[in-house]
Amino acid sequence: MPDIGIDLSGKKALVTGGSRGIGRAIALRLAEAGCDVAINYLRNRGPAQETAEAVRSFGRNAILHKVNVAQEGKLADMFAAIQDGFGGLDILVSNAASGVIKPAMELTSRHWHWTMDINATALLPLTQHAAPLMGEDASIIAVSSLGAVRAIPNYAAVGASKAALESLVRHLAVELAPRGIRVNAISAGVVDTDALKHFSNRQQILTESARRTPAGRLTEPNDVADLALFLASPLASMMIGQTVVIDGGYSIMG
Ligand SMILES: NC(=O)c1ccc[n+]([C@@H]2O[C@H](COP(=O)([O-])OP(=O)(O)OC[C@H]3O[C@@H](n4cnc5c(N)ncnc54)[C@H](OP(=O)(O)O)[C@@H]3O)[C@@H](O)[C@H]2O)c1
Repeated sequence: MPDIGIDLSGKKALVTGGSRGIGRAIALRLAEAGCDVAINYLRNRGPAQETAEAVRSFGRNAILHKVNVAQEGKLADMFAAIQDGFGGLDILVSNAASGVIKPAMELTSRHWHWTMDINATALLPLTQHAAPLMGEDASIIAVSSLGAVRAIPNYAAVGASKAALESLVRHLAVELAPRGIRVNAISAGVVDTDALKHFSNRQQILTESARRTPAGRLTEPNDVADLALFLASPLASMMIGQTVVIDGGYSIMG
């Protein structure tokens, strides 16, 4: 990464789903820029511990917290641990996601609510817990996807959840801007992470996405992390309520 002078020394961040994939890249980029980082995960402790060690290798503090972000009643413990360990919070990256990949006509109510609860609803209690720990120069970033605004096969539940997420980002942004908390979303193109293993046509998605991307390659976790770093920084002080697409130009192709 070129030295563009983003220094977040002393800032405290929480990255939900920060153990693997895009979340891990964001956690490490923030640590590299000087943040202490709390890493939330759900099931896989090994990758979470590895990411925490990588954060510490930058000389920063790391907190690990296992909780399902959709379990609203259990979130208070995570924020109490952050308050105890870090003494506050400057950056929340709501990145954890899940979802049922099926045609809309095969989705059950359980599939729908599982997906909505994790991908969209969770941002609300996460923000409600985070905001009281934040000072006047804080940033909340939600990670969305192009499925919020495009119809992608088998993506109905996840796409609808991301659309709700992006709308919630705008509403939270307006409410929290007067408090100095900026809320924005990142909408990423296809990124080759474990999440793609849930698609039976994974290889086709990767090949086709790379072929159609003007930049000539897929978006990588570090591309998303660089954008998150920018949105978390004072360079983005007038970015409020935006959904910023990072996809190498994929979505502007006719
Ligand atoms: N990959 C893509 O092509 C792509 C494109 C656009 C946007 N995105 C978005 O980018 C974000 C990260 O995706 P990814 O591809 O990096 O995913 P991933 O590799 O599958 O990683 C998911 C992460 O979220 C955690 N997680 C899952 N459900 C959780 C829950 N209910 N509570 C807490 N943590 C949970 C996982 O922890 P465990 O390992 O412990 O379960 C893991 O750390 C998501 O918001 C996704 O929608 C991805």
